[in-house]
Amino acid sequence: MLKDSVAIKGLVAAVLFLGVIVAAGCGGGGPLKSQNIPVTAVAQFTQLLPTVQRSATRVGDAQCGKCHATDHTSWLATKHASVHVDCESCHGPGSAHASAPTLLNILHGTDSTSSIVCAQCHNDINNDWSASKHAGIVEDPVNLGNNNCFRCHSGEFRANNIDSKISHGQTPAQVNTAIVALDTPTLQSYIPASHTSATCTNCHDPHANTNNLTSAGEQFYLRRATSSTDLSSDLPGAQATTYTTLNHICGSCHNNRGGNPSDAGLNANTTRPATHEGPEYNMLLGSGGAEDVAGPPVRRSTHAEAPDQCVQCHMPNSRHTFTVSLDSSCAPCHTPSDAASRESSVQGEVQNGLVALRTRLQNWAQTTFHDPAVWEYKTNIVAPSVIPDQNFVPIEVKRARHNYYFILLDRSLGVHNTPYTRYLLNYANTGLDAIGVSRSATRSLNRRQAIGILNEDIARVRASNGSLMNQ
Ligand code: HEC
Ligand code: HEC
Ligand code: HEC
Ligand code: HEC
Ligand code: HEC
Ligand code: HEC
Ligand code: HEC
Ligand code: HEC
Repeated sequence: MLKDSVAIKGLVAAVLFLGVIVAAGCGGGGPLKSQNIPVTAVAQFTQLLPTVQRSATRVGDAQCGKCHATDHTSWLATKHASVHVDCESCHGPGSAHASAPTLLNILHGTDSTSSIVCAQCHNDINNDWSASKHAGIVEDPVNLGNNNCFRCHSGEFRANNIDSKISHGQTPAQVNTAIVALDTPTLQSYIPASHTSATCTNCHDPHANTNNLTSAGEQFYLRRATSSTDLSSDLPGAQATTYTTLNHICGSCHNNRGGNPSDAGLNANTTRPATHEGPEYNMLLGSGGAEDVAGPPVRRSTHAEAPDQCVQCHMPNSRHTFTVSLDSSCAPCHTPSDAASRESSVQGEVQNGLVALRTRLQNWAQTTFHDPAVWEYKTNIVAPSVIPDQNFVPIEVKRARHNYYFILLDRSLGVHNTPYTRYLLNYANTGLDAIGVSRSATRSLNRRQAIGILNEDIARVRASNGSLMNQ
């Protein structure tokens, strides 16, 4: 671990930077121009403060503790407290606020959830995070101003309305009641205030040690567990109250939103996939696809037992880009070359399997409706000449298209859970066999063509996700 160097690195950088200025100053002989000084995180932090707070001075954490006893007591136990990262390091100088407390003279609310607060000291991590998709928003769900979408698509909304409250002991039901009661102007105010999908304080409690240590026993103030096999918050038909508060650091957003793969669920839900983008938590645990009564022979692969699950593979060495590196993510279980060859062969197999399944569904639609597009969910069809009454779509086709989209939207192409993915493809194909859909007509495609076809389907789901609410 390189943890000790966090703040020191910042100091070294500052010293080096001064060195450069001094050198330039000596060489040039003229006065330093302020515009040559880059905007550092510290300067950005000052910009973040309410104007009236910028001239305030520090009063010390004991003052804050007089009125904010709970946060003060929990903060005292943290590593931050022991290295003098105090209230005012994150909320700005507090003299004005401590003598006349209002919300106008202290950094709070969505502004306080900005990564700039943390970047003052954790600059490298902030740079990594900034390169990830978590540092941006998906515009459609944010612009809807819908409280449900905000819960996973606005880090700012989530920090203030879910994470902070759960950390202070509120129940999911209490949190949900408060969110549902928010009036339209308040909801609308989160549209311009949302800049991130997942900000630092969605995953880290800024004030308290938590019970969620990493598998190495480290106290990183994690809001939720890194490892779990609990799906009780995301059962078929579950509501936002529970699946957005699922106790898993990634699974609280990367889940299938209560999608229902039972036959009854599939018959009731025919407009678009009964699973949202990113059902990775469900896939990892081997749940969420259409299954036969006996269920899969192997539900979970060893990947679900990786000590910190998603974090093991997507945050090797605590890296905050959330991208996988085959050398560090897959150790110690695979050598880099073993991981690479397994990944490539499984992804190739699953890609071909998806395209073949899709081709069979098209063949069924062509034979039955004389239009290869109508195996699809209603809103995924681009320009249908026939929209079949979904009562005429046999359950075997509904199961097959569900499994097709569940695997596609997981997007690891079989890596997250190879045995379950294979089972779901096989179950879909066996169903189509039973209603007499031919297996032979599969086109042979190269990898690029296959990816092109699959990406078009992802794009169509995205378009329908953006326009349809609350499914
Ligand atoms: C004299 C009591 C008092 C002191 C001292 C005090 N606060 Fe406050 N603080 C309040 C009150 C009261 C509010 C709520 C103001 C309102 O809602 O208008 C508040 C609000 C806040 C908020 C926003 C809470 C929210 O709901 O978003 C933050 C953050 C905060 N204080 C931090 C601090 C910090 C940091 C210090 C020390 C520098 C401090 N306070 C000192 C009384 C105090
Ligand atoms: C490491 C940065 C950091 C430190 C240190 C910190 N805060 Fe906060 N605080 C935040 C952030 C970020 C939020 C926004 C809500 C959230 O994400 O939990 C917040 C929210 C708050 C709130 C409003 C909601 C709540 O959680 O109660 C209060 C009040 C508050 N802080 C007071 C304090 C006091 C008092 C201290 C010192 C004892 C302190 N904070 C120390 C970052 C910090
Ligand atoms: C004023 C500087 C400063 C600010 C602001 C700050 N931190 Fe820290 N943080 C530190 C230092 C110093 C450590 C201790 C590093 C060590 O000893 O290894 C630390 C430790 C941590 C740790 C525990 C890691 C460990 O090594 O034990 C986490 C997690 C963390 N910070 C997250 C945050 C988050 C999230 C924010 C913003 C809400 C934040 N910090 C704001 C300086 C800061
Ligand atoms: C349980 C959390 C959760 C909720 C609630 C949620 N989403 Fe999502 N959504 C996600 C995640 C996670 C992704 C990204 C998945 C990935 O990249 O693998 C995503 C992706 C998307 C995408 C595609 C993003 C892209 O890159 O094009 C759209 C569009 C979308 N969601 C719309 C919505 C809408 C509209 C709502 C509200 C009706 C909503 N979402 C509610 C978690 C959620
Ligand atoms: C999606 C969740 C998530 C987000 C967003 C996130 N972190 Fe982390 N962070 C984690 C997890 C999980 C770990 C533990 C990683 C491990 O076990 O190696 C961690 C570890 C850390 C550590 C301790 C490791 C180290 O290298 O010192 C710090 C400090 C930290 N994060 C700061 C931040 C800051 C600052 C931000 C925002 C710029 C941020 N995190 C955003 C989940 C997150
Ligand atoms: C607060 C909700 C939230 C949490 C918590 C969260 N994510 Fe995300 N994540 C999202 C959303 C929303 C997107 C889609 C952003 C986009 O497409 O612009 C996303 C995107 C991603 C992507 C990029 C996908 C792509 O299209 O390239 C990866 C990888 C990812 N998340 C992994 C993780 C991991 C690993 C964790 C846990 C350590 C995690 N996420 C926690 C909401 C979240
Ligand atoms: C065994 C290692 C491993 C585990 C555990 C794991 N992933 Fe992955 N994940 C991968 C690999 C490998 C890919 C494929 C990456 C690629 O093709 O670039 C991937 C792909 C993804 C993607 C799509 C990224 C993209 O760029 O399209 C997301 C999002 C994601 N994983 C999130 C998660 C979440 C959330 C969890 C935990 C529920 C998780 N992963 C668990 C290895 C893992
Ligand atoms: C915790 C140990 C562990 C980690 C970490 C891990 N794997 Fe695995 N992986 C295994 C084991 C063990 C198997 C053998 C099948 C099983 O038991 O599930 C396996 C099987 C696989 C398979 C399926 C091969 C097949 O033909 O069935 C692929 C693909 C794979 N791993 C890729 C990866 C990649 C890529 C990474 C890193 C991003 C990774 N694994 C990380 C333990 C791990």
